[in-house]
Amino acid sequence: MCISFSSLTFSFSSNFSAVDYLRLFPIDPPEFSFSGARAHLIVYSFVKSRKMIQINTVSQSKLSQPKKNQSKKDWMQKSSSQMTCRICSSDTSLLLDLGASPPANSLKESADKFQESYSLVTDICDKCGNVQLRYCLNEEALYTDYFYVTPSSTTLSKHYQYLQDFLKKNDFISRNSFVLEIGSNVGNFLDFIKPQVAQVLGIDPAANICQLASQRGIKTICDFFDYQASVKIKEEFGRPNAIVTRHCFAHNANPHAILDGVTNLIDETGVLVIENAYLLNTIKNNEFDQIYHEHMFYYSIRSMQHLLSLHGMHLVDLLMSPIHGGSIVFVATKKSSAHAISPTVHKYMEAESLALTPSAYADFVENTFEIKKTLSTLVADLIAKDKKIYTYGATAKGNTLLNFVGLTSHEIQYCVDSTASKQGRYLPKSNIQIISEEEAQQNPPDYFLLTAWNYKDEIIRKVRQVGNHTSKFIVPVPSIHIL
Ligand code: TYD
Repeated sequence: MCISFSSLTFSFSSNFSAVDYLRLFPIDPPEFSFSGARAHLIVYSFVKSRKMIQINTVSQSKLSQPKKNQSKKDWMQKSSSQMTCRICSSDTSLLLDLGASPPANSLKESADKFQESYSLVTDICDKCGNVQLRYCLNEEALYTDYFYVTPSSTTLSKHYQYLQDFLKKNDFISRNSFVLEIGSNVGNFLDFIKPQVAQVLGIDPAANICQLASQRGIKTICDFFDYQASVKIKEEFGRPNAIVTRHCFAHNANPHAILDGVTNLIDETGVLVIENAYLLNTIKNNEFDQIYHEHMFYYSIRSMQHLLSLHGMHLVDLLMSPIHGGSIVFVATKKSSAHAISPTVHKYMEAESLALTPSAYADFVENTFEIKKTLSTLVADLIAKDKKIYTYGATAKGNTLLNFVGLTSHEIQYCVDSTASKQGRYLPKSNIQIISEEEAQQNPPDYFLLTAWNYKDEIIRKVRQVGNHTSKFIVPVPSIHIL
């Protein structure tokens, strides 16, 4: 057993510290080699097995040298490359480098359209435990024209019910509540809870998405949520009783700006409900494909509590959910709130501190590279046997997986997805064309690589129900297995 990393490259100006790295991973000292004007860091790892391996190096990408005179529409933000914690400003150290990938939801209109790739590196903060992307892309470029439409799915509907029941049971929402959802997308969740509360309102930055939400009767403000937006909302609609944000709180390089808006909007009785992928599940289940440019933070209870405390808020409850590979629902109020703190907060926090250890992170990194090796070998073997492979789910996580493993339209013929607006488009970099489930049914493959593994049971049931009993499913996490 040993740890390996790819694409570790730092210029002399980088504030990477080998000491930081060693603090996280107890390895022998790094050595340096020189090539041209750059220093390439070559790390020899003796972790666990004490067996030596050389970590790959690549030359520093253009990403780590932000271009001058960037316009607002550029993908990179001026202050986007940093190795200081975006929560507490302490130094961070490398966790995992997945190489370069295009923005994961930037589906292309044609195969020959070029889509730039950007480094996908996660770092960890020793002080508050925050895990974050080193390089954050410009939110305007990421979200103003957006393809991600929340799918209609029985798995999601069940989850909405579970979340709604929890919020009602604990008096976080009631018949009289005004609920604001940040990043409300096409309004699926608001539509679901609408009959249970007095008023709903969405806010989302993607114009095309807001239009779809408004068309179905979910009032949606088209904007990013921050202090300015909160002032306008308070003026026009009053204070919400609950602010919900599902799987988008981590989609912004500056969570402080969101919390400035939240604390301006809610009073002492108001609650903030943040649903997000949970770092502990990501690490334990080797869900490295959850790492993509939209996911700028990978929250734990520890890092979330720290962030909230900087805004006079704290956690009052937590809910775990299997959705999207293991999510957590953080419920927070102002510290001055009379709301009691559930014993669940302490219980889960303790369990987390025992589980999120340096060796858990080391295993995660090692297993990530193991998945890459195993999948790449498996696909090569299948191709050699003339087997036909499609991916199932034009997901953001699928693009991380494909690009990290290096799979393209040469190996994978099609990607299947039920979302009409994705069909006919091409996955960025891998250039795989997206087709409908009906087309896949007419010409099924030998294997589906399940890139929407978070809907595994639902998708496999659906494929079998329409009469396809032959295609097998390759599930990439927690380790490669075939169903
Ligand atoms: P999602 O879970 O949102 O993944 P990510 O956050 O990584 O983008 O996307 C799931 C995708 O899977 C979505 O594009 C719709 C597709 N899908 C199907 O094609 N068929 C199905 O039965 C289900 C449930 C989803």
